[in-house]
Amino acid sequence: MSQQEQWRSKIGFVLAAAGSAIGLGAIWKFPYVAGTGGGGAFLLLFLVFTLVLGMPLLLGEFMIGRKSQSDPTQAYGKLASNKKWNFIGKIGVFTSFILLSFYSVVGGWILLYIVQILSGGLSGLTQDQYGELFGEMISNPYSTVAAQLAFMLITIFVVSKGIQKGIELASKVMMPALLVLFLIIVIRSLSLDGALEGVKFLLVPDFSKLTSESILFALGQAFFTLSLGVSVMLTYASYLPKTQNLPQSAISIIILNIVIALLAGLAIFPGVFSFGIEPNAGPVLIFSVLPAVFEHMPFGMLFFLAFLLLFLFAAFTSAFSMIEIIVAAVTKNDSSKRKKSTWFIGISIFIVGVPSCLSYGVLADVQLFNKTIFDLMDFAVSNILMPLGALLIAIFVSRIISKEELFAELKQGSNVGYVFFSFCYFLLKYVVPIAIIVVFLDAAGLSAW
Ligand code: PFF
Repeated sequence: MSQQEQWRSKIGFVLAAAGSAIGLGAIWKFPYVAGTGGGGAFLLLFLVFTLVLGMPLLLGEFMIGRKSQSDPTQAYGKLASNKKWNFIGKIGVFTSFILLSFYSVVGGWILLYIVQILSGGLSGLTQDQYGELFGEMISNPYSTVAAQLAFMLITIFVVSKGIQKGIELASKVMMPALLVLFLIIVIRSLSLDGALEGVKFLLVPDFSKLTSESILFALGQAFFTLSLGVSVMLTYASYLPKTQNLPQSAISIIILNIVIALLAGLAIFPGVFSFGIEPNAGPVLIFSVLPAVFEHMPFGMLFFLAFLLLFLFAAFTSAFSMIEIIVAAVTKNDSSKRKKSTWFIGISIFIVGVPSCLSYGVLADVQLFNKTIFDLMDFAVSNILMPLGALLIAIFVSRIISKEELFAELKQGSNVGYVFFSFCYFLLKYVVPIAIIVVFLDAAGLSAW
């Protein structure tokens, strides 16, 4: 029998789980959905959803993971004493596979931009020209696929080393670096003329700007940024000893995640307002607008390079978690199989992701349900598979496992009170499922409002 791997240190687990949470979601998606969804009011909703729905779900995944000490395709069946529940973990493994297939495309774009800067091809342009350059860049089939492959190869390399040497060490270096770099950029951004307008846009809620769609986006954003519903957090918690304080870890991860999203907003909106750029520029916000923002700063390209490196780190630590759960499911903790399995899985993900990558160029006309391949994959993951997984996990935790058993698990390593636990349990049993069903209705085009 092989040994279940374990995190080496308490902080190692928190950093790796926070690394999974913080990624393209907080840094790239948050500013643009907040920009389109009403600024301060969106931020407030995102915070409420993160605390009210995200927190109990995160704790739920942690409890199942640590209690079962199993991979996602065995954990549910083990705790329910009925293997049929393992389908929840299997859906998560499938979701993670598809998610990484297009996440790596965006990871590749970051790599390409870094190469552009290093080769001097990204300076002295106007904002429109940056937009054009980005459009051209992502439509080139050769360089984008090569960049996607490079992103996957680095991911495979780190994860094939195992969680101890790979993920934990990488996260220990990357996460603090990320925070420090972000702080520098935020300070720079805040010193721009007119920066206050951007800060106001992000922090002062204007509820008249909220629409039912932006409320649903805020909900989806809360799940996506915390990596919930995919059993990723469950898998990371399965490597934990019983001495880890689960509520404290969950709260640290949630706070870190919120801080990074806020920093991302504070790094981007002051510049956006200072240079008169529209805050609702959409998914291209970072890639086509930020170079122009940095262009106006002394040492701007150096700052932009630092920003991209930090962005890349964040994307990697999320990608590690996505592939890790598939590896855990395939190897069932037999570490002798880890290396080969990681390579096989990683290369398969890359191959499946190639059409998504090409959908910004040669395959742009291939559309299904009015969506490009990339958009279709994103839609399937963000609007169907992830909320479905979260719904099933909420039901499993609150209705299949007994309340006493859960409390006993949570109490190990912490002196959490029964009132706090009961509150989270109530949220999981009633509030989380109802909220997710609303998201589903919206995705099906049946707005609940
Ligand atoms: N939380 C990651 C991000 O915000 O970029 C995305 C993610 C990672 C979602 C892992 C789901 C997951 F299982």
